[in-house]
Amino acid sequence: MAPRRRRSAYSVSMAATNRGYLPFFLLLLSPLITTSYSAAEAEQPVHELLLSFKASLHDPSGALATWSSSTPYCNWSHVTCTDAAAGIAGVNSSITVSLQGLGLSGDINASALCRVPGLADLSLASNAFNQTVPLQLSRCASLVSLNLSSAFFWGPLPEQFAALAGLVSLDLSGNDIEGTVPPGLAALRGLQTLDLRGNRLSGVLHPALFRNLTSLHYLDLSGNHFLESPLPPELGGMPSLRWLLLQGAGFSGAIPDTFLALEQLQVLDLSMNSLTGPVPPGFGLKFQKLLSLDLSGNGLSGPFPDGVERCLMLQRFEVQGNAFTGEIPAGLWSLPDLQVVRAEDNRFSGRLPEFPAGVSRLEQVQVDNNSFSGGIPRSIGLVRTMYRFSASLNELDGSLPDNLCDSPAMSIIDVSHNAISGTIPEFSNCKRLVSLRLSSNGFTGTIPASLGDLPVLTYIDLSSNGLTGAIPAELQNLKLALLNVSYNRLSGRVPAELVSDLPAVFLQGNPGLCGPGLPNDCDMPSRKHQGLALAATVVLFITGAVLLAVGASAMYRRLQGKNSSPWKLVLFHPTKITAEELFAAFHEKNVIGRGAFGKVYLIALQDGQNVAVKRLFCSGKLTFREVKNEMKVLAKIRHKNIAKITGFCYSSEGEVSVIYEYFQRGSLQDMICAAKFTLGWNDRLKVALGLAQGLAYLHHDCTPGVLHRDLKSSNVLLADDFEPRVAGFGVHRAVGEKAYRASLDSDLNQRCYVAPEQNFTKNPTNLMDVYSFGVILLELVTGRPAEQPASKDCSDIVSWVRRRINLIDGASQILDPSISHTAQQEMQTVLELAVRCTSVKPDQRPAMYEVVRLLQAP
Ligand SMILES: *[C@@H]1O[C@H](CO)[C@@H](O)[C@H](O)[C@H]1NC(C)=O
Ligand SMILES: *[C@@H]1O[C@H](CO)[C@@H](O)[C@H](O)[C@H]1NC(C)=O
Ligand SMILES: *[C@@H]1O[C@H](CO)[C@@H](O)[C@H](O)[C@H]1NC(C)=O
Ligand SMILES: *[C@@H]1O[C@H](CO)[C@@H](O)[C@H](O)[C@H]1NC(C)=O
Ligand SMILES: *[C@@H]1O[C@H](CO)[C@@H](O)[C@H](O)[C@H]1NC(C)=O
Ligand SMILES: *[C@@H]1O[C@H](CO)[C@@H](O)[C@H](O)[C@H]1NC(C)=O
Ligand SMILES: *[C@@H]1O[C@H](CO)[C@@H](O)[C@H](O)[C@H]1NC(C)=O
Ligand SMILES: *[C@@H]1O[C@H](CO)[C@@H](O)[C@H](O)[C@H]1NC(C)=O
Repeated sequence: MAPRRRRSAYSVSMAATNRGYLPFFLLLLSPLITTSYSAAEAEQPVHELLLSFKASLHDPSGALATWSSSTPYCNWSHVTCTDAAAGIAGVNSSITVSLQGLGLSGDINASALCRVPGLADLSLASNAFNQTVPLQLSRCASLVSLNLSSAFFWGPLPEQFAALAGLVSLDLSGNDIEGTVPPGLAALRGLQTLDLRGNRLSGVLHPALFRNLTSLHYLDLSGNHFLESPLPPELGGMPSLRWLLLQGAGFSGAIPDTFLALEQLQVLDLSMNSLTGPVPPGFGLKFQKLLSLDLSGNGLSGPFPDGVERCLMLQRFEVQGNAFTGEIPAGLWSLPDLQVVRAEDNRFSGRLPEFPAGVSRLEQVQVDNNSFSGGIPRSIGLVRTMYRFSASLNELDGSLPDNLCDSPAMSIIDVSHNAISGTIPEFSNCKRLVSLRLSSNGFTGTIPASLGDLPVLTYIDLSSNGLTGAIPAELQNLKLALLNVSYNRLSGRVPAELVSDLPAVFLQGNPGLCGPGLPNDCDMPSRKHQGLALAATVVLFITGAVLLAVGASAMYRRLQGKNSSPWKLVLFHPTKITAEELFAAFHEKNVIGRGAFGKVYLIALQDGQNVAVKRLFCSGKLTFREVKNEMKVLAKIRHKNIAKITGFCYSSEGEVSVIYEYFQRGSLQDMICAAKFTLGWNDRLKVALGLAQGLAYLHHDCTPGVLHRDLKSSNVLLADDFEPRVAGFGVHRAVGEKAYRASLDSDLNQRCYVAPEQNFTKNPTNLMDVYSFGVILLELVTGRPAEQPASKDCSDIVSWVRRRINLIDGASQILDPSISHTAQQEMQTVLELAVRCTSVKPDQRPAMYEVVRLLQAP
C-alpha cells in the first residue's frame, strides 16, 4: 500500500507541473522542488490548494496538524489517495478527504478545494460550520460522494449542485437546510444515495424530480416537517429503491398504486405523515425483500389488504395510530422472521390468532386500543422470544393463561381494560417480568403471594378488579416503582414497607384495608392500655402525617409529568428504547462497570444497536427541568472522541440515568484488565491522542468549558479502529454538585484516578482532569491497570512509577515489557508526559492542548 500511495502523490504533483518540463528524475527525487517551481503556474499544486482550504478552517483540536508542505499530501491525516491508473503517468488518482467529526468550523474555501483534481470523496460531516451550504462545492466536478451531514449548515440547497454530474451519494442530513428541493437535482442521474433527512425543507416536491433518478437505492426525506406534498407517484418508478424513508415529512393523500412495483424495497417508512385512504390492494405481494414496514401515525383506513403475508422476510410490521378496521391478515402472524407487530390505536377487530409457537420469532406484540375479542391465545406463552405483549383496551374475555410469561424473555404484560375474568394465575417462571398491568378487568380471588418472588417485577397495576383478601406481605420483597391496587375489595392490614418505601402506592377504594395513613386504622386500642395507646396514637399520628406529606410530595412530583409513568425518558438522538425497557434492562447481568456514582449497564436495543446507560446512585437533588437543561448542553457536544449522550431518564424520585452511545470493543479498562493486554504501541498512542483531543475539546473549545471529573479507563470506550470515545462526563451536572461531592467522599477506595488536591480544593479545575488523564497514560505505558474492576482496589500506579523512575534501570522496570524495543523512545517520551500530568502540584501539569501537541509527535 505504502509505495502505491507515494506514487500517486508524485504523479499528481507532476501533472500539475507538466508544463514545467522538469526532468523526470528530479520529480522523483524532490516533490518540494516541483512545488516551488510551479507556484506561479495557473494550476496551483494540489497541496497548496489543500492548504488554502485548511487555512479557511478553524481546527481547534489540531486534527489537521500533519497538513504541511513538507510531507506529500497523500500522507496527511484524513487524506487518502487511490491510484486509479497504475503506473506513474496516471493523473486519474482519486483523492478522498474525510474530515468528519473533527470539531471544525470556519468559512470553507470551497473554490480552492474544488480545484483539487480527482477529488472524489469529500466528507465534512459532524462538524460545526454554522454557515450556508457552500455554493462553490458545485464546482467539485469530480465528486462521487459528498457528505455534509450534521455539520450545522443552513440556508437553501443550492440548485447548482445539479452540476455534480458524477455524484453517486449526497448526504445533507441533520442540518438546517431550508426551502424547496430544487427540481434540477433530477439531473444527477447516477445518484444512488440521497439523504436529506432532518432538515427544514418545505413546499411541494416537484414531480419531475424523481422521474430521472432511476438509480436511487436509498432515499431519505424524513423529518422535514414543512414539506407539504402528496406522495409523488414517481417514487414507484425507481426500480432499484431499497430504502424509502419518508417519516414525519408532511406527506398527505393516499399511498400511490405505483408503490406496489418497488420490488427491491427493504425498508419502507411512511410513518408520522397525514396519509389517508386505504392501503392499495395487492400491497406487499411483490415485496419479497421487505424487512421493515412502518405506516404508523397516519390516517389510513379500511381493512389492511391481503398480500403482506407474502413478505417472507418481514421483521417489523408497524401500523399503529391509524384508523384501520377489519381483521389483521391472518398470514402475517406466521411469517418466519417476524419480530415486531404494532397495531395499537386502530379499529381492528376479530380474534387474536394462535401463534406458531415452535417457530415464531415474535418479540413484541402490541395491539392495544382496538376491538379485538375472544380469548388470549395460550400459545403466546410458548413463543420463546416474546418480550412484550400488550392488548389493553380491547374486548378480550376468558381467563388469563397461566403460562403467559413462560417465555424466558417476557418483560411487559398489559391486558388492562378488557373483560378478562377468573383468578390471577401463579406466575412462577417470570424471571424477567418487569411490568404487569391487569387493571379494569373482572379478576377475582386473591393477589398471588408468589408475585413477590419475581426478581425484577417493578410495576404492578391490578386496580379496578374484584380482588379480595389481603395484600400479600411478600410484595415487600420487590423493588416496586408502582403498585396500584385501588378499587378492588381488598381487606386487612397493608404491609408496612409498602406504604413507607413507595412513592406510588395506590390503595383507595378498598374500604376493608387498614393501616397508617388510611382512613381505617387497624389497631383498636383497649381500655387497659389507654396511656400507652394514647402515646402510640400520638406517635402514629405524627408518623402518619409525615408519611402523608412524603406521599403527597411524591404524588405531586409524579403528577407533574404528563404521562403516568414514574420515569421520564428524554432522547436527543433517535434511540429505540422506552423507559420501561430501560428499567427492565437494569439487571445485574448487564452491568459492565461500576463506580462511585453508580453502575453502567450495556443495553442491546431492538434495532441491534447498543447503548451504555449510567444509572446514578446519588439523586433527588435536581428537578427534571434542571437535569434536562444540563443534559441538553452536554448532548450538543460533538467531537470524534466524545461519546454522544443520546438521552437520559429521570425517575419520580429524582434518580437519573444517562444514556451514552456504546462501542463494541468495550472500554479501555476491559482491555487493560484482560488476561493479556495485547494492544500494540501504535494503537495505544492512538488512544492517548484521541483521548487528549476529546478532553482538550471539552476544556478549551466548548463554551463554557466542560469538566469531565470522572475520567478513568472504564470511561474510555473504543471503536473498532481503536479510536477512543470519552464517556461518563458531566455526571456532576446530572446530580448536582452537592450530591456529587458526597458520593466522591463516601467512596474513598476509588481514588485511583482522582487528583490529590480534590480533598481540599473547593472548585474543580481542568488540571484535575489532566491528572486523571495522566493516570490513564501510565496505564498505557506500563500495561498495568490502575484499578481492578472487581476488587475496587487501587494499585496506586502513580507511586509505583515514582518509586522506580529515578532508578538506574527504572524505565525497563516501568515500561510494558510486551511492547517491542523499537517503540522504547516514544514510550519514554509518553512516560515523561504522564509523570508531568500526574504532578502533585497542579500548576506543574500541562494543559490539555499542550498534551495534544506533544502526543502528535512523541
Ligand atoms: C509517507 O507514508 C509512507 C507510508 O506510510 C512512509 O513510508 C513515508 O515515509 C511517508 N513519507 C513522509 C515524507 O513522511
Ligand atoms: C481560497 O483559495 C484560493 C486558492 O489558494 C485563494 O486564491 C483564495 O484567495 C482563497 N479564498 C479565500 C476567501 O480565502
Ligand atoms: C452561528 O452564527 C451566528 C452568526 O452568524 C451566531 O449568532 C450563532 O450564535 C452561531 N451559532 C453557533 C451554534 O455557533
Ligand atoms: C456521512 O457521514 C456520517 C458521519 O460520519 C455517516 O454516519 C454517514 O453514514 C455518512 N453518509 C453516507 C451516505 O455515507
Ligand atoms: C431527465 O432526463 C431526460 C433525458 O435524459 C432529460 O432530457 C431531462 O432534462 C431530465 N430531466 C431533468 C429535470 O433533468
Ligand atoms: C385509541 O385510539 C384512537 C385512535 O384510533 C385514539 O384517538 C385514542 O386516543 C386512543 N385511546 C387511547 C386511550 O389511547
Ligand atoms: C390507579 O388505578 C386507578 C383505577 O384504575 C386509576 O384511576 C389511577 O389512574 C391509577 N393510578 C396510576 C398511577 O396508575
Ligand atoms: C483525603 O481525605 C481522606 C479522608 O478524608 C484521607 O483518607 C486521604 O488520605 C486524603 N488524601 C489526601 C491526598 O490528602
